[in-house]
Amino acid sequence: MKISEYFPSEVFKDRTVFVTGGGSGINLGIAKSYAAVGAKVAICGRTEERLDQAKGELEALGVKIHAVVADVRDYEALQDACDEIHVALGPISDLVCGAAGNFLCPANEMSANAFRTVVDIDLIGTFNATRAAFEQLKETHGCVLMVSAGQAYMPYSHQAHAGAAKAGIENLAKNLALEWGQYGIRVNTVVPGPIEGTEGVKRLTDEKQKHMLLQSIPLKRLGLPEEIGQVAVFLSSPMAAYITGSQIVCDGGMNLSGSALFNMAVNQA
Ligand code: COA
Repeated sequence: MKISEYFPSEVFKDRTVFVTGGGSGINLGIAKSYAAVGAKVAICGRTEERLDQAKGELEALGVKIHAVVADVRDYEALQDACDEIHVALGPISDLVCGAAGNFLCPANEMSANAFRTVVDIDLIGTFNATRAAFEQLKETHGCVLMVSAGQAYMPYSHQAHAGAAKAGIENLAKNLALEWGQYGIRVNTVVPGPIEGTEGVKRLTDEKQKHMLLQSIPLKRLGLPEEIGQVAVFLSSPMAAYITGSQIVCDGGMNLSGSALFNMAVNQA
């Protein structure tokens, strides 16, 4: 059953969704889910070529799309992007902070710049996006979704940088939910498990590692980008009107078995 069959088209037709890092992977899956229910969608990323490709895929779903080159580490660029989106598609009603960077690296071999780079993209980039979009979200009584990760609440080998950044995101989401509820803005996080075909899975697992990873997932499969998109659309919908400061885990139950198998796979590689 398609996601559009669950939501009447009038629910999202006047909404403008901005997905940072929307050019690929989970974030593109999220952008496609919003487009499929009729929302106007804006995406940003660092690479024009990747954005152009994603824009084409999104336009094929029949909605207005705007793509803008912006690195989430650059606050001014994000502010300009938000202004541009307002002109092109109307005020932002839903912001998805998805831009992230990651690689496997033991903490004792990680440079200070490598650690800072991931914190800059994931955590500071998330704050930058929420701050830059705040006035528009206030106008629309909007909804923010931050893309978190299992590393936020459980240590994973070779993931000290990503764990610190994502744990920060979880706290930031709760803080903004607390402060911005008075403006009608809701703020939540989604915790994806390993998702099929994404850069993250490609970087974090070869075939042998992937096999071990699957053993740690109760549902015995990787997730799909659109399954994270479905969570995002639900949280934006009126059905989630009283949900803020929450975390939705969408990982096939992977968190239940801890990170031991992942750690073994990484340390054997
Ligand atoms: N292992 C160890 N250190 C690494 C690394 C790796 N695989 N990849 C990058 N770094 C280090 C670099 O050496 C550099 O540190 P240094 O200056 O001390 O040498 C630092 O991280 C910054 O790397 P750089 O490539 O200059 O930064 P960037 O902003 O161009 O790249 C990254 C951003 C690091 C996140 C890069 O991995 C990337 O572009 N990833 C693609 C997106 C992605 O990761 N998606 C998955 C999301 S889950």
